[in-house]
Parts: sequence; C-alpha cells; structure tokens
Amino acid sequence: MVKRVLRITADEYDKLSDLSANDQKLISAARESAENAYAPYSKFCVGAAVLLANGEIIKGNNQENADFTDGLCAERVALFYAHAIYPDVAVKALAVTAKTRSGLIAGPAQPCGSCRQVFIETEYRFRQPIRLILDGAEKIMVFNGAGNLLPFAFKPDQLG
Ligand code: THU
Repeated sequence: MVKRVLRITADEYDKLSDLSANDQKLISAARESAENAYAPYSKFCVGAAVLLANGEIIKGNNQENADFTDGLCAERVALFYAHAIYPDVAVKALAVTAKTRSGLIAGPAQPCGSCRQVFIETEYRFRQPIRLILDGAEKIMVFNGAGNLLPFAFKPDQLG
C-alpha cells in the first residue's frame, strides 16, 4: 500500500489591484459577461472570460432553462463558444465570477465539477495548462492548471 499525499497550489489575493494587468482585464471581461447571464431561476449570474493564445478574449455566461437540467454554466458556454470559432487555438487563461442580487459574491467563485472536467479536457486537447482565475469581492484565487481543481481526473487517455 502506498499513501499518496497531493500537493495543490493556489495563489490567493484579497485585492484585485494586486493581480497583473492581464489578469485584471480578464476578470473585468468576466464581470461584464455576468451582466448578460440568463439566470431567472437561480438569480446567480455567472460570467466567464477565456484568453486564447491568439490574444482574443471570449466571454460566456450561464444560460438557464425552465427545465433546470437543460441550462449550461458560464465556463462551458465560453469554452465551447471559443472552440466553435477557433478549434485550433489553445486556452491560456480563464476567469470566472458570480453575482447575486446583492452584488459580486465574496468569492472565490468555484466552478462546478462538470466545468472542471471540461477544463481537464481542454488542457489535454492543447497540451498546456490553463491559468484559472476564480474571482470574488473579498478573495481571488489563481491556479496554474486544472489538476489543482480536479485531482485524479478522468482523462481521454484512459479510453485507450
Ligand atoms: N453555474 C455556473 O455558471 N458555473 C459554475 O461553475 C457553477 C454554477 C451556474 C449554473 C446555474 O445557472 C447557476 O449557476 C446556479 O447553479
């Protein structure tokens, strides 16, 4: 028997101004995108912004449905849209944020398990880690690579 101890690293910030200009720009895009969320049921408006290797920023937000399970998260809207347009362009970074009726959440905004699985797939597809920026009014967390958010993930190479 071998006991495995995982090491997960994250950078935590309590002030937006402590992040780089590039990270701040991506967070601003995510915050802007949250304004366009379609979230009439949860009233939890999520915004995501993806920085592509070609320098483009693609935005997405959550899209809900009266049949609750048919909605989609902001992160996957942004990633799927980005790769529908640019199938061969890698993702460098992704920022995600969330707003309720009382404004920006304290944070950090935590992506759901399905979105984490899609981050893993995207990294595998382009063979490079994604800088993941989880925004919040009081705390922002930055991870280098989705393995930090989803250890022991199911990966395409397991399909054989
Ligand atoms: N949501 C996201 O957009 N991203 C996540 O990672 C977590 C949850 C959305 C889905 C739903 O529209 C609302 O937040 C409440 O769960």
